[in-house]
Parts: sequence; C-alpha cells; structure tokens
Amino acid sequence: MPFFNFDTAGHLLFGSGAVARLGEHARLLEIEKILVVTDPVLRQAGLVDRVTGPLQEAGIRAEVYDGGEPEPSLEVANAAAKAARSAGMQAVLGLGGGSNLDVAKAAAAILAHGGSALDYMGVNTVPGPVCPLIAIPTTAGTGSEVSQAVILTDEQAGIKLAGQSDHFRPALALVDPELTMTCPSKVTADSGIDALTHAIEAYTNVDYREFPARLKKGESSPFDGNHPLGDALAEKAVELIGENLRRAVREPENLQAREGMALAATLAGMAFSTCGVAVVHALEYPIGAAMHISHGEGNGQLLPFVMRYNLPYCRERVVRIGQLLGAEVTGLSAEQAAEKSIEEVSKLSRDIGIPQRLREFGVTEDMLEGFSRKSYTIKRLMRINPRVPTRQDLLEILQDAF
Ligand SMILES: NC(=O)c1ccc[n+]([C@@H]2O[C@H](COP(=O)([O-])OP(=O)(O)OC[C@H]3O[C@@H](n4cnc5c(N)ncnc54)[C@H](O)[C@@H]3O)[C@@H](O)[C@H]2O)c1
Ligand SMILES: [Zn+2]
Repeated sequence: MPFFNFDTAGHLLFGSGAVARLGEHARLLEIEKILVVTDPVLRQAGLVDRVTGPLQEAGIRAEVYDGGEPEPSLEVANAAAKAARSAGMQAVLGLGGGSNLDVAKAAAAILAHGGSALDYMGVNTVPGPVCPLIAIPTTAGTGSEVSQAVILTDEQAGIKLAGQSDHFRPALALVDPELTMTCPSKVTADSGIDALTHAIEAYTNVDYREFPARLKKGESSPFDGNHPLGDALAEKAVELIGENLRRAVREPENLQAREGMALAATLAGMAFSTCGVAVVHALEYPIGAAMHISHGEGNGQLLPFVMRYNLPYCRERVVRIGQLLGAEVTGLSAEQAAEKSIEEVSKLSRDIGIPQRLREFGVTEDMLEGFSRKSYTIKRLMRINPRVPTRQDLLEILQDAF
C-alpha cells in the first residue's frame, strides 16, 4: 500500500487581528526572550511594533535584528544567528516575507546546533529540533510559515540553495492578514503568483503512488508527489487566488482580498511542503540569483511555459486549475480546455504586471544554456515533476520563455 506524509507548523493561528494574541501563544511555548528577525522596510512600515508590543505585554524580552534583505544570502542568516547569540536569546521570531522567515529559520538551527547556514542547506541536514521558532508572514506568498524549507542565496556560486528539514517547520505560524495591508502592489503581485505556483506545482506533480518507483536505491525525497490532502489544500488555494489576487494588487487596502490571499498562501504552503515544488522553481533558482529579480516574478513568468511542457502528463488537473480560476471550459475538447486553462494563468499574471518574457528581466539568449545546466542539477525537483525533463528539455522551455 503506498503512503503519503503530511506535516505543517506545530500550531497555526489565522485571522485579522491575530497578532494581538502573540504574547499568550509565545508564553505557551515557554519563551522568555526572543530575537525578532526583520528588515528596515518593515520597521519603517510600523510592523515591528505590532509584534514587540504584545510580547512585552506578556513579559517577554524582545530584541530586534533588522538586517534582513530580499532574497537573502547565507551571510545574513549567519549574522542573525550571531545577533541572537550575543543577545543571549533562546528563541527566534521571523517577521516579514519569505526572506526574513527563512533567515529566522536558519538562525534557529544555528542557535540550536552551531555551525553556519551553509551546514543546513540540503536535505535533512538539521540534526534535531531547533530553538523555539515563530513565523509571522507579512506577504501572502511563500508559505514559509508552515514549510520545511529555507531558501538562501549563495552569492559566490550564483545560485539559491535550499535547506529542507521538518525541523524548520515553525512551532507557531501566526498569520494575520492585516500585516499584509502595507505591501506595495509589486510585492503583492510577485508573492501572490508565487503562492499560485506552489499550489499548481503541488497539484500537478507526479502522483504519490507512482513516485517511489522514481527513487533509486538509497535515495530519499523531501516530497511525496500529489496526494489527496495536498489536492484539497491546493484546489482551495487556486480558487482563492483566482478570486482575490487581482483585487489585492489593485486595491491594497481591501482587507477581504488580503484575507483571501493570506489564507491561499498558507494553504499552498501546506500543500507544496509535502507534495513538492518542481521545475518552475528549479528554473527560477539560477535565473533569480543571476538577474536579481524576485522569486515570485521569476516563477510567475516561467509558470505557463512549464505547464505547457508538463501538459501531456497532467491534462485533467490543468483543466481543473483553469476552472478553479474561473475559465469557462464547457463544450471544449480536452486539448482546448487545457490550453484555455494555461491562457487563464498567463492572463492573471499579465493582469498583475508580471513580465511575460525572460528577456524583460535582462536575460540574454547566451545565458539560457548555463541556467538549464544549473537547474538540471537540482534532482529533487526534476524527479517530482510530472514529466521528468532532460537537460535539453529545460533548455527548450527556457527558449520558449525567452
Ligand atoms: N521557505 C519557503 O518555503 C519559501 C517558499 C517560497 C519562496 N521562498 C523565498 O522567500 C523569498 C521571497 O519572499 P517574499 O515573496 O515573501 O518577499 P520578500 O520577503 O523578499 O519581501 C520583498 C520586499 O517586500 C517588503 N515587504 C514584505 N512585507 C511587507 C509589508 N507588509 N509591507 C511593506 N513591505 C513589505 C520586504 O521588506 C522586502 O523589501 C525568496 O527568497 C524565496 O526564495 C521561501
Ligand atoms: Zn516559491
């Protein structure tokens, strides 16, 4: 009998105004002093006070490290851990988009087990539980608040590295959609299309019952492929994104749209962090690192091209995605319906301002070969994809997307 896994954050508190309850939840985790990992933009936006206030009211000492940056480097995670250690902290709170959450997760591992961030990249490299870890997202996108992943940029190698361990799942994910209200439209768009990419990749990956046959003897995988629980989460996430992403981008202060997107991002995080992300993410890692674009816009640009490549292996699921996004497909042939679904994804990304061609990021044709080579080395993302690509396939996807 095939089996699948499901893991998420230790506890999830979701809802507008939830941040006011932070103190009591931190006390349940027996936290007395905690380092808040954030960045100058969020401090400026007044969000740091929204977090330190409730902590102080609960008698918890909070120190702030605000050296976070978008698409953070290994060095930033090392610096955050150093700040935690020199302030004598026993717990870490990530406040921000996926970038700060990932820095906080890596810092929590370093604080518990020593070493540096690079030691915790790769699969299952965290030897045991990390120190108490709280994640409070301020974007609706990455799902890092519930995920097992940490993504950091290796500036020297020019690629993003991933650390994958269930020990990286925060003890508490506190998702308060009000904290996303100050997100500029570009951040809303980029992080929102990342959430859509998570849901679509989780949903269209290889079936969990077929996946074990793809593993060679002795190989393990952080992902299981699509499974019924992931499907339920991913379908709901796609539907919510269809209903709310355009509105959240155009009307930043529309709380209902922000709530829909915050829920979608967390659900998509729950889905992808056991079902897996795949070739879209694998292609984005070297491109993002080289071109200094956001993870979300890179994924959003590539998504329709990878969906088209995967189509013969997941046609029914692609049609369902289109329907969930609101495309009318009744009366169409299976081929036409699938094409319409992919067009619906492209239309959504166009409408929110995601570049439609790689060249718009400054990519030149001679770079594509190198990108395909680097992506191809990320085996865990190749073999979970519905269609296992060759390096030539990756190059052709990039040429299409160029
Ligand atoms: N760990 C995971 O599971 C996972 C999954 C997907 C992506 N990621 C990683 O997450 C990162 C991207 O995260 P992101 O898309 O959330 O963006 P981000 O964290 O990089 O933030 C982008 C910018 O928006 C600002 N910002 C964030 N929230 C704001 C708010 N409420 N108001 C005003 N400004 C705000 C930030 O300060 C930053 O300058 C990438 O490094 C990516 O690789 C991680
Ligand atoms: Zn992503």
